[in-house]
This record gives sequence, structure tokens and C-alpha cells, in this order.
Amino acid sequence: MSLIKPLPDILISQIAAGEVVERPASLLKELLENSIDSGANEINIAIAEGGMREIRVSDNGPGIPKNQLPLALSRHATSKISSLAHLESITSLGFRGEALASIASVSQLVLSSKHQSDTHGWEIRAEGSRVSEVRPCALEQGSIVSVKNLYYNTPARKKFLRTQNTEYGHCDEIFKQAALAHPAIEFSISHNGKLRRRANTKKIETRIREVLGTDLTDASIWVEEGTENLYIRGFVQQPAYDRGTKDTQYLFINGRFIRDRVISHAIRQAFSDVTHHGKSISYILFIQINPKLVDVNVHPRKTEVRFHQSQAIHQFVFHAIEKKLSSAEHVPKKSTHSFFSDQGATISPQHSRLQNNLAFTMDKRGRPLTSLDISQNADSPDYDEKEATSTDISDWNQVDENKQHDYPLGFALAQLSGIYILTQNREGLIIVDMHAAHERIVYEQLKTALDLNEIPKQALLIPIDVGLDLTQMAVIHENASLLNTLGFEFSISGPENVAIRAIPSFLDASKVSALVTSVINDITDFGATRVLQEHRNDILSTLACHSAVRANRKLSVEEMNNLLRDMERTERSDQCNHGRPTWFQISLSELDHRFMRGQ
Ligand SMILES: Nc1ncnc2c1ncn2[C@@H]1O[C@H](COP(=O)(O)OP(=O)(O)O)[C@@H](O)[C@H]1O
Ligand SMILES: [Mg+2]
Repeated sequence: MSLIKPLPDILISQIAAGEVVERPASLLKELLENSIDSGANEINIAIAEGGMREIRVSDNGPGIPKNQLPLALSRHATSKISSLAHLESITSLGFRGEALASIASVSQLVLSSKHQSDTHGWEIRAEGSRVSEVRPCALEQGSIVSVKNLYYNTPARKKFLRTQNTEYGHCDEIFKQAALAHPAIEFSISHNGKLRRRANTKKIETRIREVLGTDLTDASIWVEEGTENLYIRGFVQQPAYDRGTKDTQYLFINGRFIRDRVISHAIRQAFSDVTHHGKSISYILFIQINPKLVDVNVHPRKTEVRFHQSQAIHQFVFHAIEKKLSSAEHVPKKSTHSFFSDQGATISPQHSRLQNNLAFTMDKRGRPLTSLDISQNADSPDYDEKEATSTDISDWNQVDENKQHDYPLGFALAQLSGIYILTQNREGLIIVDMHAAHERIVYEQLKTALDLNEIPKQALLIPIDVGLDLTQMAVIHENASLLNTLGFEFSISGPENVAIRAIPSFLDASKVSALVTSVINDITDFGATRVLQEHRNDILSTLACHSAVRANRKLSVEEMNNLLRDMERTERSDQCNHGRPTWFQISLSELDHRFMRGQ
């Protein structure tokens, strides 16, 4: 066996570089972090050939004194922390003191800087293991770090680099992250001599628009909430927003771009009521947390954190977003359909909270009834003339002023194609997807009912035997009452069998086995308390979908108006449970515009 020897310094740095400097963009990130940490308020980036030929970052920060320059390039030398106490409450982006040393070990690096204590600038060069003397240079202010020919001395790594454009794309992403996280700083980036981006607005909202464009922000909801120790602000998309191609997901914790499963789970959960399962969600969120409550020293690239109280953070983020989503105020400012582009719906239901006196009942077969009583003539396809009553207001002018205010969704005019309800309000025409709208109403009513009661059950004629393994059986034993609350009745029929006797109403009896196992697996994965929250809503959502009014069911005008009134009373009624919009408005002025009236 070979002798055990300490590794030479250069090799240690090259090993560290393997983790820290994966590609040009990762070294750009490190250089940007240094400039940001220095307190600079202007940072310019010049990139050549995707960063493979050169990355140069200049800033107007305070610079580094001449005698400190060699230290800046040594491994484990930093000005940012000096004790464990510091490490446990980090406010700077860097702290490991290894970035410049690692980068220098795999490239040709020049660090130039002008500190106020020096009369002119000084520079130091590093190439592999050789570090030059400190020499004078021309520099008025700040620091410039130029990194050339990345991996020139480690050809194996160089092979992993992609095309210029791909590598530049990664650099651009790092630029966006930095520019979003630090609106107080002006940034610019050029590639092969051409200016590609500039970010110089100072307010966070305008900075986001400047960097990411307005597509997403126009279809987003602003979230802002918190205390001194924990604060969240930023945009989350409106539930109905669908970018089609790619999601925008930015999470910053204390000014650092982070990927974090706790928070992304909290965001997904907040949206679970208003979007498709599995649909990903766009957001740009900034979390400010007392640095003592979060550990950033988790990964050499510093893209992960560990919260001391992750459950509390989860709850906080979930509630901050969920509250906004359920406030029914975020009616899309624009129509979600591109052909009615400019001035869309701006009204919002005035009764945004579920009223306590909701007449919620079940029919004989346990189906939920709303004021749109679908059970009575659900099977008769014909429109019942006698239903048309005094609420059949086809002339908007007949409705007095006060009433117009009371009914933001207006009054039904007609039904189109057995799918849509056409309604008229003060602004013009509204089109409602009746199934989607009804589904949401039933869902919300069920949730309210079940907050007070239990899920309605359907007894199975013949109990269904489900085979489980021993760990699953243990879950059944430990969570019998939870399963009961969720609508399941069962008895243990063998060491690895349960006989299911009842399941939540409306669920497909042929799927009992899959349903039971998925509930058990969820309980195992998430712990019992969360299942009740999450899975209950899944079951309710299925229930609502099965019981909502189907396409091609002719509705009377009264039924249509009742549906509209229910929508106005219902939380989140502007999306169905799957995140599709339930209605949108075409204003009279849009119609005038399309017909070129008054032009
Ligand atoms: N642009 C800069 N302006 C001022 N000081 C800098 C700059 N870049 C690097 N430094 C100094 O060099 C030191 C080493 O940088 P680095 O290797 O990235 O480690 P770290 O950022 O973890 O401290 C920093 O602690 C800082 O004092
Ligand atoms: Mg650093």
C-alpha cells in the first residue's frame, strides 16, 4: 500500500474547485458574492466565450489593501468570519474563504484592487500554483477580478463544458439571481463585447419586472407578511396562470438564491386547493430570517440551508400564501384569453368569505346540494320553462343601482352550448364555465361542512379485502380514528388484511384498494396531522367533481342566477379546484372596440 501523505495545497484547492467551480457560471456566482459582500453599489460583468475564455467582474466597493492581496488568494483566509459565533449568524454571502483560492488553482486569475489607504491600485496574479508578487496597476476605485482560461490545467474537467451559448445561459441565470436579490445595486452584463442586460431600478417590484419582464408579474399576486425575525415578500403566480413552457421559481433567503424543499413544499401545499396536482408553480419570493435561525453552512456552493425550526417556517410560508389565494381578490386583471387582451375583468366578488348560513344539505343519496339543486332534474335533459321567475332579469336597466352593486357577477342571460352561462353586469358580458364554477362551490361547502362534521360515508355492499404489508398494518392500527374521520370504515381481517366496509361517498368503489394504500402511504410519509389536511382535500375535490353539474344539463335562468350568487359567496370561486378559471369578463368598451364603435 502507498504511504499516507498530506496533500499539496494546490491539489487541495483543485479538489475544492471541483465542488465550488463546476462551470463558468459557478465562479461568476462567487465573484459576484464577493463584490456584493464588499458593499459595492455598482457591479459590471464582462464575459467572453461563455466565460470559458474570460469572466471579469468589476465593482466600486472599498477594495482590498495592498498587503492583504496575497491573503485574499490563500485558502481558508476570509475577512468575513473569525469565530464559531460568527459562523452561526452569518450575514455575508461568503464565509468559507476558499473561492478565490479554488478558482485560482484552475485558471489564470488577476485580482486588482484600490483601497483608500493606498495611493494607487495594486494587482496580484495567480496561475495554477504560482502566485505573483503584488504589483502596481492603474485603478481608481474598487476591485476587478479577471478569470481567464478556466480549467486550462485540468483538461479532464474542461471536457464537461458545453457550448459558449449554453455556458453563457448559465451565467445569465446567475446574473438574474444576483440582480433580483440586490435591488440596491446596479448591475450590467456583457457577452463578447455586447451589452446584454442592465438592472438599475432600485425598488424590488420594479427590479423584478426589469429582470424578468412583466408577463409573470402581471399575472401574479403580491405576498408580504412577517415579523422582525421572519419576513416574506414577493410574487406568486395567480392560480390560473399557465406559462406553458417553463416555470419561474426564485427563492431568496437573506439575499441568497436557495433551493429548499421545505419551502417549495409549503408553496405547493398552499396552491394544492387551486391548481392541478403536479402542476408546478411560478414564484419569486424573498425571505428574510434572523440568521441565527438558519444554517447556511450546509453545502460548499451555499445553495442550500437548514432551518432550525423547519416546521414553523413551513407553516408560516404556507399561511402567508394560502391567505392571499383564498381572499378571492385576485381576480385576473387581464382576461386569461389572449384574444381579449387589454382591459379585462376588474370586478371582484364582494362577499369574499363563506357565509355562515350556507344552506348546506345532502340529498337522500348523500349528495351535497347547493341552491343549484342538481338532483331534481339532473336526469331530464329538457329546460323547464316554469323555472323562469322574477330573477329572470334580461334587461340590465331594470335592475336598480344598489342591486347592481350587490351582484358583481350580474344576471344570467342564456346558456351557451350546455357549458357556459352568459351573464350581464354593469361592465358588460361575463362568461361562466358552469361545471368549473359549481365544482368549486360544492368543494368549498363540503370543506366547511366537514370542518364541523365527518366526511359522509358510503357503505360497501360487500366489504372489500385489501392486502397490506406489516408496516402498513401498523399504520392502520395506529391511525384507526384518523381513517374513520376521513370516511373509511374497516375491520382487521387477518395479520396482513383489512376488510374495508365503507369509503368516502362518491369515490369509485373499484379503486378502494389503491385509495387505502395511498392514504396509508401518505400517513407514513407526512405524519398523521398533515394527511388530514392534504388528503382530506383531495378526497373532497374528487367528491366535488363527481357531484358538480355536468355539461349539457340545461339550467333555468333562476338556477343560473343561483349559481352566480353562490359564486359570489364562495371563497376562491374564480378558479375551479384544478386551477382553471371559472369566469371572465368582456367589458362593453372592449366590445365597442372590437366593433369599432365610436372610432
Ligand atoms: N470584490 C472584492 N472586494 C473586496 N474584498 C474582496 C473582494 N473579493 C474578495 N475580497 C476579499 O477576499 C477574501 C477572500 O474571498 P473568497 O475567497 O471569496 O472568500 P470569502 O468570500 O468566503 O471570504 C474575502 O474575505 C474578502 O475580504
Ligand atoms: Mg467569496
